[in-house]
Amino acid sequence: MTNPVQELLGKPAIEALKRPIGQAFGLPGAAFTSDAFFDLEKEALFPRTWAVAGVASDIPKPGDAKPVTVSGLPLMLVRDREGQIRAFHNVCRHRGMRLLTGPCKGQTTLRCPWHSWSYALDGRCMATPNIGGVGVNEAKGFEKSELGLKPVRAGVWLNTVFVNLDGKAPPLSEHVAPYEEYYSAFDLSLLRHSGYTDREFKANWKLCIEGGIEDYHLPWVHPQFFEGVPAWHGRAILDRSLVGTESWFGKSDVDLYGAKRELPCFPGLNDDHRQTGNFMVLFPNAGLSIGPDHMAITHYVPKSAGLTYYRKDYYFIGDAATDPAFEEARKTVTSGWLQINDQDQSIVEPLHENHRTRDKIGIDNRFSPEWEGAIRGFQTLVVDTMMR
Ligand code: FES
Ligand SMILES: [Fe+2]
Repeated sequence: MTNPVQELLGKPAIEALKRPIGQAFGLPGAAFTSDAFFDLEKEALFPRTWAVAGVASDIPKPGDAKPVTVSGLPLMLVRDREGQIRAFHNVCRHRGMRLLTGPCKGQTTLRCPWHSWSYALDGRCMATPNIGGVGVNEAKGFEKSELGLKPVRAGVWLNTVFVNLDGKAPPLSEHVAPYEEYYSAFDLSLLRHSGYTDREFKANWKLCIEGGIEDYHLPWVHPQFFEGVPAWHGRAILDRSLVGTESWFGKSDVDLYGAKRELPCFPGLNDDHRQTGNFMVLFPNAGLSIGPDHMAITHYVPKSAGLTYYRKDYYFIGDAATDPAFEEARKTVTSGWLQINDQDQSIVEPLHENHRTRDKIGIDNRFSPEWEGAIRGFQTLVVDTMMR
């Protein structure tokens, strides 16, 4: 039987993607960004991997909870009594109502708004009021022990909550290992959350990612990186769950995002680390970018095949994340990223539109052998995961 992904994209297109990069073609744009492909992703991509689901510090205290959407499914993230983050399907065990309709704080139980069934923070069903008549809270055939919320496998890394919907992916620690290995010079345990920015891109989530993981476009789309830069070179990285590009800009006294190194830097970095700009995707949809003095973590959450919720969280070193003395320096970093987002958005949205017609007029997507290995790598990860 043909795999549905192969059926949609065509076997020759998948073979063309895997040719040596100079001769390879990107996947057919219209099919790759279609509603039908998004439906397949919800079956065979996001559930098999560790998809981003939220930010742990959004629910800082026991009893805090927040509804989120992952792979088109309503989930909720809950901080339990012990302070651990749990994820559940946001679906009541009675008649399927959405249990949590908005973020909440300090709850001891989670109560369904429809018939008031309630659940402990660890998902156990605690009460089914009036189910057997007024004041009769039990009924034959309704065992509370069998009516707990449906849990979803969840894990937290760098304050970011990931979920694995099918429960079969290798452990999260294995999933993030390539990143920790590449960036072992950076002591990630020093990072503290300062805030976030968000927006929507009218474009497929994969195009938003592809717009971020190659550096070929930098001089034309983000010219601000090149002021006073004596030399520039880059390389693509594709290693297990990690795909992206690193560049070196040969300037170490000024942050790539414009700050004048007023912020504390990770201790022990060499010049190479201080001059790098990098944007990595932890497959499938978390973007990671680290500099000498901060880290930005991006969530690419598909709302539909043509609309992506984009959230970027900012982390600084120790107290620099919250100390008012560094507020201006933090703002410089954040506004530097917003400028980058604006610039990329101006490319990615019209690109999404053009993907609808590109195939029709016979234009294949080509890759620069020097710069765009990460794009080919990302598309390969998508099809390989879905055809496994
Ligand atoms: S659907 Fe939740 S209590 Fe009825
Ligand atoms: Fe960009």
